[in-house]
Order: sequence, then structure tokens, then C-alpha cells
Amino acid sequence: MKKSRLGATMAFLALVWLAMVRFTEADWWQMGFPTVLTGMLNLTPTEHKDRCMKMEFFIDKQKELCAKYDRILPIISTGAKLAIEECQSQFSYSRWNCTTFPEKNNTFGNVVTIKSREAAYLNAIAAASMAYAITRACTKGELADYCSCDHKIRQKKNQKWKWGGCSEDVRYGERFSKDFLDVKEDANSALGLMNLHNNEAGRRAVRSRMLRTCKCHGVSGSCSMQICWRRLPPLRKISEGLYKRYEGASHVKYVERRRKKLKVVKPEFKKPNRTDLVYLEDSPDYCEKNETLNILGTRGRVCNVTSPGLDGCPLLCCGRGYQTRVKDVEEKCKCQFVWCCNVVCSTCKSRKEEYVCN
Ligand SMILES: *[C@@H]1O[C@H](CO)[C@@H](O)[C@H](O)[C@H]1NC(C)=O
Ligand SMILES: *[C@@H]1O[C@H](CO)[C@@H](O)[C@H](O)[C@H]1NC(C)=O
Ligand SMILES: *[C@@H]1O[C@H](CO)[C@@H](O)[C@H](O)[C@H]1NC(C)=O
Ligand SMILES: *[C@@H]1O[C@H](CO)[C@@H](O)[C@H](O)[C@H]1NC(C)=O
Ligand SMILES: *[C@@H]1O[C@H](CO)[C@@H](O)[C@H](O)[C@H]1NC(C)=O
Repeated sequence: MKKSRLGATMAFLALVWLAMVRFTEADWWQMGFPTVLTGMLNLTPTEHKDRCMKMEFFIDKQKELCAKYDRILPIISTGAKLAIEECQSQFSYSRWNCTTFPEKNNTFGNVVTIKSREAAYLNAIAAASMAYAITRACTKGELADYCSCDHKIRQKKNQKWKWGGCSEDVRYGERFSKDFLDVKEDANSALGLMNLHNNEAGRRAVRSRMLRTCKCHGVSGSCSMQICWRRLPPLRKISEGLYKRYEGASHVKYVERRRKKLKVVKPEFKKPNRTDLVYLEDSPDYCEKNETLNILGTRGRVCNVTSPGLDGCPLLCCGRGYQTRVKDVEEKCKCQFVWCCNVVCSTCKSRKEEYVCN
């Protein structure tokens, strides 16, 4: 009797401890919330260093990296913010819509403790957005003591154009992203290997989409010489590309042979390359609310009645059906140009139907 009570107490304490560990785990994603950013701008270098070392959302190695810079906190914050925005934009019509919980110290909720393809996407978009934000900051001179334009791109022989101007230094951005995010991962664990793979896939999604812009030089329009520079593509292109990888993500398992690694679950499937996303566990269906996992469920979500896809009512509503809501909307219409220089519109009222999941 006594023994079992002790056992129960121990189990309870272990649970409390687990819950505390989970909630105090340094969650750098919190940097993406606007409230965190206030107070991080206009710090003196000493204040910046101090703030880095005290940053509760960072693990020790991240604190040290941060403290090597005198102005990187707001840029890390931008990286996190961009990643959240891109994720929400790509998943706005999916059952899991990348919901964040700013009031908890657990940005995406417990659902991302499942080693799912959604977790894979989050890692990839984070690594990509971080590389993106740092690279752009280098170009803009916001990290002037550390990086700027990339002047080291090598000229290939017989190229009809020359590198010149300001090429964005994506290699610098990538390196920071790697140093900042990969340090959190344990390469000797299944989850660590999964996260490291997806981080790298995210960075490659940036690198492989770099654009080249050129300008003609030479006597009046002859274009006898072209100067070209490299620049970042719109981040939206990268998040879309990663979404395609998410759709085709590979289900892998952890194997310990001579070397610890991930292998496809079904050998007949294609081996993932370094641009593919990998995941270890199947996703929940995200249909019903689950408070333990912080899943909201899809009741009340607006669906597309004509779409056969994920955003369509049958799939988004998980077969529960939907209701039609009639909304009165007011829109600007019949706009006319009035000389000079106004555009005058009237307001039109119309009814629009909206479909909402049961
Ligand atoms: C995600 O869906 C929930 C309802 O399930 C909704 O309240 C929320 O606004 C949505 N979030 C985004 C970013 O679309
Ligand atoms: C989140 O973390 C901060 C600082 O560590 C703490 O003050 C706050 O109480 C935590 N909030 C929750 C909901 O755990
Ligand atoms: C990696 O695999 C994807 C398909 O999963 C393919 O589209 C892509 O071209 C491959 N990349 C390389 C570098 O082989
Ligand atoms: C929520 O998910 C957990 C883990 O999958 C499961 O054990 C639990 O029963 C679920 N709760 C509800 C209310 O569905
Ligand atoms: C609904 O889905 C159809 C077919 O995929 C698409 O053409 C249409 O633009 C969608 N409507 C909205 C409001 O997203």
C-alpha cells in the first residue's frame, strides 16, 4: 500500500519535471513575436552582448554566437518572424495551419513534438528564413563589421559577363543559420538527424534559387560588357519550394549500423537527397481538437466548396460536412478616373457565400 503510494508520488513528480523541462526548453521561435522585438532595437554593443547572454530563448551556444555580434538580435528576430509568416501562408488552407501560441513558451504547441512532416517543414523554413534574413542584413550594411556583399564569387573562364556590383552573400547567411540552428541538434539521435537534414534542405532551398541580375555596359547600348550580381529570390518562392518538398517528404527510420543514420522506411521508395525533407513519424489527422497536443481541430474553418484539394470542404472538414454562411460584403466598385487626378468609387453591397466546417 505504502509502496504503491510512493510509486505514484514518484511518477507524479516525474511528470511535473517532464512538463517543466518541456516548457523551459529554450524556444528561439519566440523571437518571432513582436513583443519580444521591442527593447531589442538601439542597444549599445555592451547592452547587446548582455542581452544575448541573458536570452532565455537561447541555449548556451546560441547565446555565445549572438554575443559575438553587436547588432544581430533584431535580425534573428526577423528571421523567426519571416519563418512564421511563410509557414502560415503556405499552410493557410491546410488542416494544420501553423498556429502559434504566443502566450505559452511553446511556439507551435506540443503537436510539433511529433516528428512529423509538419515539424520537418518548420525546421526547413526556419533554416531558410534565418539564412535569408542574415544575408539581406549583410547586403543592407546592418552587420557592417561582419559581412557585406560577396566579393569572392569566382569568375568562370569564357563567361560572357563579369561578376561585379553587390552580390548578396548567401554563404555568410547560410553559415550563420547553420551555426545558430544546428547546434541545438544531437547528431546521435533520431530526432537530431532528422532536424539536421531538414535544416540543410532549407538552406539549399535558398542557395539553389539565387538569381542573377545583369546590367549592360559599353558604348551607348552596345552591351559589349555585362556586369552581373547575385541576389536573393523572394522568400515566398523558397517557402513554396519547401512546401512541394513537404508534400513529397520521405518517411525515414533511424538505424544504428557502423554509423547512425536515417533510411527510408520502405526500400522501394526513392532515397531522399539533401534537398528533400524527411520525417520519422506519421502526422495526426488534425481533425479534432486535442488540448494536450494543442491541436485546434478544423471546426469553424472556412473551406473551398469547389476545390478537390486539401482546402476543399470534404478534406478540410474531415467528412463532417459544412455549413453555408451568407455574408453581406461591401466593396469599392465602379471606380472612375476623374480629371485630374482622382479615382472615385462607389460602394457596392453584395452577398457572398462562405462555407464553414462543422
Ligand atoms: C488557423 O485556424 C484556426 C482555427 O482552427 C484559426 O482560429 C486561426 O486564425 C488560423 N490561423 C491562421 C494563421 O490562419
Ligand atoms: C514563459 O517564460 C517566461 C520567462 O522564462 C516566464 O516569466 C513566464 O512565466 C513563462 N510563461 C509560461 C506560460 O510558462
Ligand atoms: C532531389 O530529389 C528531388 C525529388 O525528390 C528532385 O526533384 C531533385 O532534382 C533532386 N536533387 C538533386 C540535387 O539530385
Ligand atoms: C490527444 O492526443 C493524445 C496523444 O495522441 C492522446 O493520447 C489523447 O487521447 C488525445 N486527447 C483527445 C481528447 O483526443
Ligand atoms: C476554390 O478552389 C478552386 C479550385 O481549386 C479555385 O479555382 C478557386 O479559386 C478557389 N476559391 C477560393 C475562394 O479560394
